[in-house]
Amino acid sequence: MVDQTVPQQASAAVLQPSEPIPTTAVSVQGPDLSKKPSLPHLLSSYERIGFQATSLGNAINIVNRMRNWRLSDEPIAEDESEEYLSPAVRAEIKCNIFLGYTSNLISSGLREVILYLVKHQHVKCLVTTAGGIEEDFIKCLGKTYLADFNLDGADLRRRGMNRIGNLIVPNDNYCKFEDWLTPILDQMLIEQKETGVVWTPSSFIRRLGKEINNEESVYYWAYKNDIPVFCPALTDGSIGDMIYFHSFRSPGLIIDIVQDIRALNELARKSRRAGMIILGGGVCKHQIANAMLIRNGADYSVYINTGQEFDGSDSGARPDEAISWGKIRSGAESVKVFADATLVFPLLVAATFSQNSEDSKTSEKV
Ligand SMILES: NC(=O)c1ccc[n+]([C@@H]2O[C@H](COP(=O)([O-])OP(=O)(O)OC[C@H]3O[C@@H](n4cnc5c(N)ncnc54)[C@H](O)[C@@H]3O)[C@@H](O)[C@H]2O)c1
Repeated sequence: MVDQTVPQQASAAVLQPSEPIPTTAVSVQGPDLSKKPSLPHLLSSYERIGFQATSLGNAINIVNRMRNWRLSDEPIAEDESEEYLSPAVRAEIKCNIFLGYTSNLISSGLREVILYLVKHQHVKCLVTTAGGIEEDFIKCLGKTYLADFNLDGADLRRRGMNRIGNLIVPNDNYCKFEDWLTPILDQMLIEQKETGVVWTPSSFIRRLGKEINNEESVYYWAYKNDIPVFCPALTDGSIGDMIYFHSFRSPGLIIDIVQDIRALNELARKSRRAGMIILGGGVCKHQIANAMLIRNGADYSVYINTGQEFDGSDSGARPDEAISWGKIRSGAESVKVFADATLVFPLLVAATFSQNSEDSKTSEKV
């Protein structure tokens, strides 16, 4: 005869009762696509989907809080300086947003998303690596093409094609870049010798933005809008190759990184509120975070990157590691979205800067 008694131990294990759910708990809920939601409505549903969708939802909320903050939201401190006492002035002071991105993102179509932010002055400064500078100018001289991750490297080399992931840049584009850049380097060296000007990576990039005179360039708009672009490792790319060749033909050009670290750190120090949006890792991530240390940490941080922390890399470090160093304030709003920025950043900008936007200035008087 079969024993019909449910084993007590097994049923206790499977049917363990739960504690009461806190009243503040949010339930998981996906979007109702039968209602054909608009893009903003769809994105507002991400917060409750779970996993990285929830992180993107949190990133959207944090960026909106960066954008909406005004000094007038804060009580006037006893030691407030004279210039910040007027309510009208306080209502104008916004959070300074520091945007960092890796080189490959300028190679990708995120270039146009970054251009939108710079053209409409939504960010206070940019930090990137050398490829993030030159690929913008090179795209004004020749196109980058969609291709395939699996193309054969040796075959591409024979054909003069350079691969960046699933993108291809013809080597001719770099030859055009040299033709364009070399006379500018000649002129900058003349100005250095005649006027004593000492170029920095940011003044170099500003000059290139002026010279390219092309509305398709991110750095044209950075020049027009007086948005500094910091690139401490400016020589690690094609720009470095051109400077290397130029140094044989016309030696003597000096590019000073000291003035730039001072300018970047001072911008952070004088920001009444500061937020970081960092796409990818490496130099662009750490240079901004390090500048935030000067002001005892960022007030808002959004990281979007694929890096992992198990190897101890700074690229993979979560915001909590930066809190331990004083690069993000404890209690600050922060999130890391673990994702390819090309998937996530257009959505983040569509849900934030491009919503209800007067495309107004994000700048604070510093
Ligand atoms: N187009 C190019 O990529 C290019 C061109 C010329 C020179 N370079 C040089 O190569 C060097 C290394 O490049 P780098 O410092 O810009 O960064 P990188 O390409 O080494 O990336 C650094 C980290 O950022 C993260 N990351 C990169 N792409 C991402 C993405 N799409 N989404 C999310 N996370 C991402 C990853 O964790 C990666 O390990 C630089 O000195 C740069 O100037 C790059």
